[in-house]
Amino acid sequence: MSDHIDEAKLHAFIGKMLGDLGGAMSVPTVRIGLRLGLFTALAQGPATAEQLAARAGGLHARYVREWALAQAANGYVDYDPAAGTFSLSPEQAMVFVVPDSPVYLAGAYELVAAMIEAEGRVEQCFHDGSGVRWGDHAGCLFCATGAFFRPGYVNNIVQNWIPALDGMEAKLRKGAKVADVGCGVGFSTMLMAEAYPESLFIGYDFHEPSIKEARRHAEAHGLGERVRFEVSPAKAIDEDGFDLVTMYDCLHDMGDPRGCAAHIRQMLAPHGRWMVVEPVAGDAPGQNFNPVGRLYYNASTMICVPTSLDQEVGEGLGAQAGEARLSAIMREAGFTFVRRATEGPFNMVLEAA
Ligand SMILES: C[S@@+](CC[C@H](N)C(=O)[O-])C[C@H]1O[C@@H](n2cnc3c(N)ncnc32)[C@H](O)[C@@H]1O
Repeated sequence: MSDHIDEAKLHAFIGKMLGDLGGAMSVPTVRIGLRLGLFTALAQGPATAEQLAARAGGLHARYVREWALAQAANGYVDYDPAAGTFSLSPEQAMVFVVPDSPVYLAGAYELVAAMIEAEGRVEQCFHDGSGVRWGDHAGCLFCATGAFFRPGYVNNIVQNWIPALDGMEAKLRKGAKVADVGCGVGFSTMLMAEAYPESLFIGYDFHEPSIKEARRHAEAHGLGERVRFEVSPAKAIDEDGFDLVTMYDCLHDMGDPRGCAAHIRQMLAPHGRWMVVEPVAGDAPGQNFNPVGRLYYNASTMICVPTSLDQEVGEGLGAQAGEARLSAIMREAGFTFVRRATEGPFNMVLEAA
């Protein structure tokens, strides 16, 4: 370490670290607030801590007061010192209360909790290069993942991503056969099925508990015969003739993305398309040193790379693989047409044929 300390740099860095630590320490209090319905209760209108405690079903007011002050210090709720009341702005409500808002972040907090719980397991992988099986990650990682991605899917799949594919929306409206590979708990599959009632959808994932959860969701939504969920590794799917194969935020998690790409090609009907939704990323790491890339690199260290390294080949693409590497894998598998169809703040959508 050099002796010279630049005081201004140090102050700026400590300021940043204080913000980061404050964010990290807010994770348990936010999760408690979400579970106990405190944010939802506050969305009904301004309240003192005592009123909020009562509104949330009779919680202990002293705890609610400290919680509300913590959230006010976080900037996650507003505080009126004159009235002694707390309140939630419409913007704060979008993040903590409205599940279909594009910026609902409850799932993100679940994901952080699962990452923290997995710390010891992943640390061991640094020594021996092993991976962590998707089903062996901490807590309910698969539920957290579903919840994390859901708001983006609810607001984009049907509105933006499918329409960006060449002629696909019209095909789906008429009646097409679709495979959603690596579907997890199936939110993406069900959103598509609800939007395109003439089409048939099959969701595949190698994680049985995810598929059970997806089947439960589909039944609750009354989607009947048009949606089916099957347990299968991507490379072992034994059905073909698909007009569209989708992969949402999962190609980079697979151990053998090249092998998967080649298999997807065999699954497609002659004019079929492959839609690959992946975390948005530039091709050079430095392009991803921004707030979104930061989230993805951390999640990738704890979740995506260990998941891939646990599988055969163990390519370990990581969540910030970038378009160039992903496109190269698709072309190697024999896809001659590959393009970035569209993108959003969190995802890019690649189309291949
Ligand atoms: C990050 S999650 C995304 C799940 C879902 N598509 C979503 O967006 O909510 C990655 C998914 O890929 C699945 N997966 C990983 N490797 C797989 C493989 N080789 N074959 C099938 N599924 C796989 C995992 O079980 C997990 O459900």
